[in-house]
Amino acid sequence: MPRKKSEEKRGNSETDMLTELSGVGPSIAQKLVEAGYTDYLAIATASPMELAAAADIGEATAARIIQAAREKAEVGSFETGDVIYERRQNVRKLATSSKNLDELLGGGFETQAITEVFGEFGSGKTQIMHQLSVNVTMPEDMGGLDGHAIFIDTENTFRPERIAQMARAQGLDPIEVLKKIHVARAFNSHHQMLLVEKAFEVAKEYPVRLLVVDSLTSHFRAEYVGRGTLADRQQKLNKHMHMLLKFADRFNAVIAVTNQVSARPDVFFGDPTSPIGGHIVAHTSTYRIYLKKHKQGRRIARLIDSPHLPEGETVILVTEDGIRDP
Ligand code: GTP
Ligand code: MG
Repeated sequence: MPRKKSEEKRGNSETDMLTELSGVGPSIAQKLVEAGYTDYLAIATASPMELAAAADIGEATAARIIQAAREKAEVGSFETGDVIYERRQNVRKLATSSKNLDELLGGGFETQAITEVFGEFGSGKTQIMHQLSVNVTMPEDMGGLDGHAIFIDTENTFRPERIAQMARAQGLDPIEVLKKIHVARAFNSHHQMLLVEKAFEVAKEYPVRLLVVDSLTSHFRAEYVGRGTLADRQQKLNKHMHMLLKFADRFNAVIAVTNQVSARPDVFFGDPTSPIGGHIVAHTSTYRIYLKKHKQGRRIARLIDSPHLPEGETVILVTEDGIRDP
């Protein structure tokens, strides 16, 4: 079957790539790929203990391999402040079509950052992701980024009809907008992570300025159940988030992810719910917006522990035309 063949081919090119790391022969490479370490970044951000277990090697060897991968992936090294300053000069804001929400976020969804939107079912997370995908295609003077979107859909909730509706409401040609949104279904968490790697390739071809992962956590939550799986899940999520951040920096892109809430005994801001993914997701997200259903299509949006914006909340409206102000 052609599909099988292409998978084999992919597997081979991955193992070939890994054997370029000193200390990695074909059999270690094979084990690494099977355990999901399919690229330099995945290895670079692993812990020696984790890698040792995955590839059946000693921890000292694992540490050397990780170091080699870090050099290849160019992570974990220093850069001077002026380089960071220059990159920060390029930060842009993507408008949401709600003035209220834009203001809450200091102008919109920021590039070079991850913004997490979390809340209960039906709170409007997916609607916001659709709106951003439309808006990113608009010129900068309309609040867009004049770019393309990548939409990683884990719950099969991407709706081109909805995009068309929102595009028309902005006076845009729906087909032109749809042509700029690159959608992929992610079938499981591993596939979801691979799709982010693919996104790097897409972004070499098109000016991608928005990467959506809707939802960030559903596959992880479904797959890693029961005691003993939590550490593994958190490590994978950590890797995933860092890959997203890298994408944000490399392409000056907005990363927008959604997250559900789970009923937990600890009370989160008055709601008996808290976002999935624990500290990893909380600490890697630059901005976190909590959405809460309110009456008549209204949603309360609350900004939570942001690095340089005051905490606050506002009200938005989900309408036929998209996200709006009440
Ligand atoms: P989960 O993915 O289930 O966790 O929910 P979510 O937060 O992604 O919710 P989503 O963004 O899918 O919001 C669905 C809600 O948006 C619906 O219940 C409606 O209230 C609203 N909505 C969606 N489409 C329309 C529309 O065309 N018109 C109006 N007025 N509201 C809409
Ligand atoms: Mg949704």
